[in-house]
Amino acid sequence: MKMIKKKLFSDEPVEIGPESGYDNYIMAIESSCDETACAIVKNGREVIANVVASQIKTHAQFGGVIPEIAAREHMDSINIVIEEAFKQAKENAGINPEDITAFAGTVGPGLVGCLLVGLNAAKTLALVYDKPFIGVNHLNAHLCGNYLDTDLKPPFMALLVSGGHTQIIDVKSYSEQHIIGETIDDAVGEAYDKVARLIGLPYPGGPKLDKMAQEGNPHAYKLPEAKVDKFDFSFSGLKTAVLRLVKSFDGKELPVKDICASFQECVSSTLVKKVKRALEESGYNQVIIAGGVAANSEIRKKIFALSEEGYNVFAPPMKYCTDNAAMVASCAYFNTNTFDDINVEVFSRVK
Ligand code: KG4
Ligand code: ZN
Repeated sequence: MKMIKKKLFSDEPVEIGPESGYDNYIMAIESSCDETACAIVKNGREVIANVVASQIKTHAQFGGVIPEIAAREHMDSINIVIEEAFKQAKENAGINPEDITAFAGTVGPGLVGCLLVGLNAAKTLALVYDKPFIGVNHLNAHLCGNYLDTDLKPPFMALLVSGGHTQIIDVKSYSEQHIIGETIDDAVGEAYDKVARLIGLPYPGGPKLDKMAQEGNPHAYKLPEAKVDKFDFSFSGLKTAVLRLVKSFDGKELPVKDICASFQECVSSTLVKKVKRALEESGYNQVIIAGGVAANSEIRKKIFALSEEGYNVFAPPMKYCTDNAAMVASCAYFNTNTFDDINVEVFSRVK
């Protein structure tokens, strides 16, 4: 499908995307939560600059992301990451700011104050260089992380697991996708972070819990799997079960590694079981995982095991699982469901 965008000042049409017939260099900015990121991607797949400034250290002292502080940190980092991305593009591919085809930015979902910083920077760059502006949905961008450095083409089944979302998505084409299952309560990343806090692990809980789990016995405790609709998920009961288990030790030292491993086993087997059922029903032979929790070692292991059953399995490398701007640039290139009006406003939740 042709994607025609307009240059902001001159109104000149610019064709973007796989059918444009020339090399596209898209610069994207991501600032929806606690990473300030800027990247430049050639033709949706080849990353020629990728810069991420993480705020993890700042938020660790508070045990979670404080939106106001996150927004201020984005303000401090935004110019630095943009400058560094331009520098990398020059060094890696001889690309100058004038060579950029379009500027993209994350519109939502995310923290509003944070999104405003990155999105306004992307809009400003598009105005300054008289190029098209492309607004991107953060969740679509996570899916597109799988196009980076690969030759993956739709259709495929996707498992999107992040701090805010847990969805099984039927990706029919670059732009047509249907959510066929999702969580009815906590997102999987949220469950990881809450359980981590419950057993005394420091922020950011998810990756720490994953690390502990790798040293524990996954069958030490049998934790309950929620009974919900076909492709939906529920993790709040599991969280309560861990709370009950913790209380049963009555202040005695917790077998933290075994609790982590048992929790991880329950979550990963539930997720992958449902993805497999969705794959079987769709008849697709490709499956991908995306989102911050796609960095999880056990979920990756179980998803990759599907390749032994004949499925093509894609999972982005760790650097493209957690928030980054390369996935946003890829989405701007491939996906027609973008927000191209310069007046588009940021949004916190999926409408
Ligand atoms: O996609 P993401 O970077 O941000 C959004 O939510 O959009 O995902 C962050 C989530 C957090 O909940 C974090 O704890 C979780 O991903 N996470 C992990 C791992 N790495 C990040 N959860 C489990 N295991 C991991 N290795
Ligand atoms: Zn994310």
